[in-house]
Amino acid sequence: MEKAADVLRAGGLVAFPTETVYGLGANAEDPGAVARIYQAKGRPPSHPLIVHIGGAELLRDWVEDVPATVHLLAERFWPGPLTLVLRRGRRVPLEATGGLETVAVRVPDHPVALALLSGFGGGVAAPSANRFGSVSPTTADHVRAELGDAVDFVLDGGPCDVGVESTIVDATGDVPSILRPGGATREDLEAVLGRPLDVPSTSRVRVPGQHPSHYAPRARVVLVEPEVIVDEAERAQEQGHQVGVLLPPSLVDAPVKAHAVVAIPGSTAAYARGLYGFLRELDRRGCDLIVASLPVEEGLGLAIANRLRRAAGPRSSG
Ligand code: TXA
Ligand code: MG
Repeated sequence: MEKAADVLRAGGLVAFPTETVYGLGANAEDPGAVARIYQAKGRPPSHPLIVHIGGAELLRDWVEDVPATVHLLAERFWPGPLTLVLRRGRRVPLEATGGLETVAVRVPDHPVALALLSGFGGGVAAPSANRFGSVSPTTADHVRAELGDAVDFVLDGGPCDVGVESTIVDATGDVPSILRPGGATREDLEAVLGRPLDVPSTSRVRVPGQHPSHYAPRARVVLVEPEVIVDEAERAQEQGHQVGVLLPPSLVDAPVKAHAVVAIPGSTAAYARGLYGFLRELDRRGCDLIVASLPVEEGLGLAIANRLRRAAGPRSSG
């Protein structure tokens, strides 16, 4: 842990576990170190990062003003899978926000991440520790396999518990809205706020840096209704594809003719926890096409459906 904090102080990159996914961290106040994140990920510099801090009480060091609703949310959800977008404080360099006057901040709920933050003493700017556009890593092995030598130090905290990224809430306006569904559910957020929250449709790009083809495995992803998933897989397999299937719990006993089948766990929490690992496994097993259907968009199902839609979205050549 001490070594990891030293790497951050020296302007290096440290991959670390959070409860959601692994992050690729750098000293948030060091523009040179932040630039290395973009380089390692192959991510365009206009895409803002999340600044991770060690506790809600540190929030005022990083943002310009803290509306009352934000106190409510921070108190209830931090440490945890909620990221708040607020007005950028002077401490945050524009390099970390992709040039925006707002900054995304969160307190991760993982003992290793919290120990790193307290040992380091500052803010850690960190996107998910994957190459730009691909599936987020939920184990230290995923990080090493994808980023290799581009990262100076990897802290291994075992598999992530939540498995999908944090929920991002824009708290800059009078009415907060969800920019990206994630580990903190819409229902829980609405209960705390006492009002319904707007969630963007996936077709509209509202968060800078969210392209339709984000969160994508190598294999092409096709979404179909659950009733036809078995037929669709068989048809594609017969056409010569190496088909991978994410098989819904209701169909566990169905005979599927495909190259590889992953049975989705019955609980949504277990599905979210496993999702990125399942997609990586189907890639590893040589699938070129993944057939899946969307879960009910409640609770963590909203984030899972969002990631599957993006994985199935048009691929950009860039
Ligand atoms: O769970 C997570 O959020 C993980 C862990 C490591 O904390 N991090 C993560 O970071 O998913 P990343 O960079 O992969 O996704 C951050 C998202 C991006 O879509 C980015 O556009 C958005 O946050 N974002 C960051 N700053 C923003 C801002 N000022 N306004 C709007 N969106 C912002
Ligand atoms: Mg990411």
